[in-house]
Amino acid sequence: MRRKLAAGNWKMNGTSAALSELTTLSDAHPDPGVDLLICPPATLLAAAAQTCASGRIRIGGQDCHEQTDGAHTGDISAAMLRDVGATAVILGHSERRAGHHETSEDVRAKARTAQAAGLMTVICLGESQLQREATNTLDIIGAQLSLSVPDSSTGENLVVAYEPIWAIGSGLTPTADQIGEVHDFMRTRLEKRFGAGVGRSVRLLYGGSVKPDNAEEIFAISNVDGALVGGASLKASDFDPIIRALEGA
Ligand code: PGA
Repeated sequence: MRRKLAAGNWKMNGTSAALSELTTLSDAHPDPGVDLLICPPATLLAAAAQTCASGRIRIGGQDCHEQTDGAHTGDISAAMLRDVGATAVILGHSERRAGHHETSEDVRAKARTAQAAGLMTVICLGESQLQREATNTLDIIGAQLSLSVPDSSTGENLVVAYEPIWAIGSGLTPTADQIGEVHDFMRTRLEKRFGAGVGRSVRLLYGGSVKPDNAEEIFAISNVDGALVGGASLKASDFDPIIRALEGA
């Protein structure tokens, strides 16, 4: 059985004042029925890990470099994430693919390094609006999945997040059928590549405008094992009902 996962991506939001949201969330979920992960900006990682040290919320980074160390000004290594108490990292978010020109090959290289360092990798993929209209979404997702996911992946160190680019931050979400189609497809592809054991144990998250009022419907879709949540993860009062919807799913 896959344990469900509610993951929050704070993106470039939050200074130390935002740590109180983590305290609230941690206190509200001393024994959650699902896994919880918050990925704050790099500047808050150490403090966030400390804030959550006695609770059940895992802390993750939002990116790491493919090299283990070296002359890469401004970048963060997987070992540095581990060192400050992070146990996971988001890789290949569409905002990094677009804003930092990251290819699926780059994402795979980063994921290989992160997994070798003992981090759980949350690898993101998803089609643009244009791609959904002009081509077969499953072709896009299939290519991104096979190129972005490294061979070193297991049910413990890999989570895949399907995030249609047009649904991120837009208030738009795909229909339940559209989400189900992509998630079932990703499951089949993972089973083919890694075998049934690993393929069935990888958690598949949906991301893109998940809110308290649509969470229940999204979590009822087959092969949706949780969510990667942006805007609605910033406030404990928004993320909390999403966690409870997942616990009840
Ligand atoms: P959103 O972002 O929930 O604000 O749409 C999701 C994401 O980008 O991970």
